[in-house]
Amino acid sequence: MTEQDAPVPYSEHDFDHEDSNRSGNPHFGEVLHARLARRQLLKGGLGLAVTAGLFATGAAALAADGKPGRPGPRPPRGRPLGFTAVPASRIDDVLVPPEYDFSVILPWGEPICGDYPAYLDGGLNSGADQEQQVGMHHDGMHFFPLTQAPPHKSGLGLLVMNHEYIDQAAMHPAGPVSVGGVRDADQVRKEIAGHGVSVVEIRRRVDDWSIVGSRRNRRVTGATPMEIAGPARGHAKLRTAYSPDGTRTRGTLNNCANGHTPWNTYLTCEENWAGYFVNRGQRPREHARYGVSATTGRYGWETVEARFDATATAGDATQDYRNEPNHFGWIVEIDPFDPDSTPVKHTALGRFAHEGLVFAQPQPGRPLVAYMGDDAQGEYIYKFVSRDRYTPGRAAGALLDHGTLYAARFRDDGSGEWLALDIDDPAFAQAAARAGVRFDDQGDVLINTRLAADVAGATPMDRPEWGAVDPNTGQVYFTLTNNAARAADEVDAANPRGPNPYGHIIRFLERDARGGATAFDWDLFLLSGAEDDSRGPDGDPLTADSIHASPDGLWFDHNGLLWIQTDMSGSQLGSGPFGNNQMLVADPAAGAIKRFLVGPSGCEVTGITATPDHRTLFVNIQHPGESGGSAWPGGMLKPRSATVAVTRRDGGIVGT
Ligand code: FEO
Ligand code: CA
Ligand code: CA
Repeated sequence: MTEQDAPVPYSEHDFDHEDSNRSGNPHFGEVLHARLARRQLLKGGLGLAVTAGLFATGAAALAADGKPGRPGPRPPRGRPLGFTAVPASRIDDVLVPPEYDFSVILPWGEPICGDYPAYLDGGLNSGADQEQQVGMHHDGMHFFPLTQAPPHKSGLGLLVMNHEYIDQAAMHPAGPVSVGGVRDADQVRKEIAGHGVSVVEIRRRVDDWSIVGSRRNRRVTGATPMEIAGPARGHAKLRTAYSPDGTRTRGTLNNCANGHTPWNTYLTCEENWAGYFVNRGQRPREHARYGVSATTGRYGWETVEARFDATATAGDATQDYRNEPNHFGWIVEIDPFDPDSTPVKHTALGRFAHEGLVFAQPQPGRPLVAYMGDDAQGEYIYKFVSRDRYTPGRAAGALLDHGTLYAARFRDDGSGEWLALDIDDPAFAQAAARAGVRFDDQGDVLINTRLAADVAGATPMDRPEWGAVDPNTGQVYFTLTNNAARAADEVDAANPRGPNPYGHIIRFLERDARGGATAFDWDLFLLSGAEDDSRGPDGDPLTADSIHASPDGLWFDHNGLLWIQTDMSGSQLGSGPFGNNQMLVADPAAGAIKRFLVGPSGCEVTGITATPDHRTLFVNIQHPGESGGSAWPGGMLKPRSATVAVTRRDGGIVGT
């Protein structure tokens, strides 16, 4: 008998609301909040007095004095934001300013390698087909130019992108199928292949981009063999039946945002991976603290593939998959130029719901510095500082295997501190002892990164998403997308609204720009929301041209413009004043912000990169029609995530 599973599609947001932080870490601003509660400025009991203070003093101080550890003079200003703002909209299409054009490329299912199996509408492609086609639910991406000599540098390259998750209703003819409680095996193969990363060579011809039939084209999926590197490689908690020595694994899952290294490789970040597994037995801390289910995996893959069932058997860890979830939650390096290369999971970068990774400007002869967010309610912002020095031309992935991982503490006075998560660090060892937490070794610390940050006393944040580094000032920006779970009495200066339905953007500057700093200064860049409940980068409320909510994607272009992408969901998306998900551009130097693009119904706008000449901007449209009502890009039965290539009609530099 064939039974049709009830069509209750998984939405990413089901998991983003995961709140497994039971650390009880003090929200450091509680005292401050109590002091300032009398002075609340805006409606609804919000702690915006705190914010107002940090806008006024923090922003001005950060921009003004040019002392070491503070930003220098403001960069020279060109003609900022010289485009017509796009209005908030619920039209089922992509909207760009009238001075711009866009074209749709690389939709889900487009053949890119192997036998190039044609896309079949209606969900009719097989699992084997999907392994040779663009994956589903496009997210973070990066353009790697293939030729060095301008002007051709921008006309040919590898577009590498993440595929975060899948929509089973769109992927299959009539949704997920099970027989006697066991998922259809080819549907599962297709779903696993719909995840991961696509590497596609593309070429610009006049105004259009097309796929090149290159041997570099590649799919990395939820089944691709990978190496595990760094301090946790070979750890007892990574041993499985597939990898008895804990050094190898299969697949990368829930690849949200991304990074790219100074040595031209791609980094893909495993975000809501915990939901793919089930452990019906005793869940160890490295499962429970991340929300691994005790009842069922998100898509029921465990009914077909044993590795998704992490319930311990009577044997030891090399005879089952109790440790399989510990192979996920990492950042994975892929060399897009070598299709035969084995992706590497870098454990020194920590294990959590990795949103993305952004490097500080690399400095020859100095350690490499990277920033990362853990996107779940009440989780942390992290920094990695390499042990070894960065040497241009010689740097490689090994640089990411030795170093110190830190978690951020944001103090209420606008200062901050990086807390080392290092078993050999005396302060960390003392904090762990005080908390009664024992780590076996540094591999154990990294496998339990969240617990290590709890112990160290990091500041719980409102869902840290993407980070971006201002090329002019070195300031590091992070989106804090929202946090429905923050109570009114839990607000602090860095997370000033409780609950926080709209999100905000925080920024900080290291006191020591040489990379080893453990102190920083921070302020709030903006508070997202409607006109009556927001604050723009100039200190005034956002306007009709800039209101938005749930900021998520974040990227600085080389002109110092900050691109902000939104991930609203639920009623905020359906009936709020903000329209569909969108992308805005801010000029931090000018304090300006404007809406640049609006996506089709039900979509998220996420993932952004540009050609080196900055005349083509690539933006991803993820899960159009997730809640129904869209078949974008149109003309077919099923909606398809896709990339849009945005250009200026006059061929000029995008955004200026
Ligand atoms: Fe996949 Fe946190 O967005
Ligand atoms: Ca995201
Ligand atoms: Ca998001």
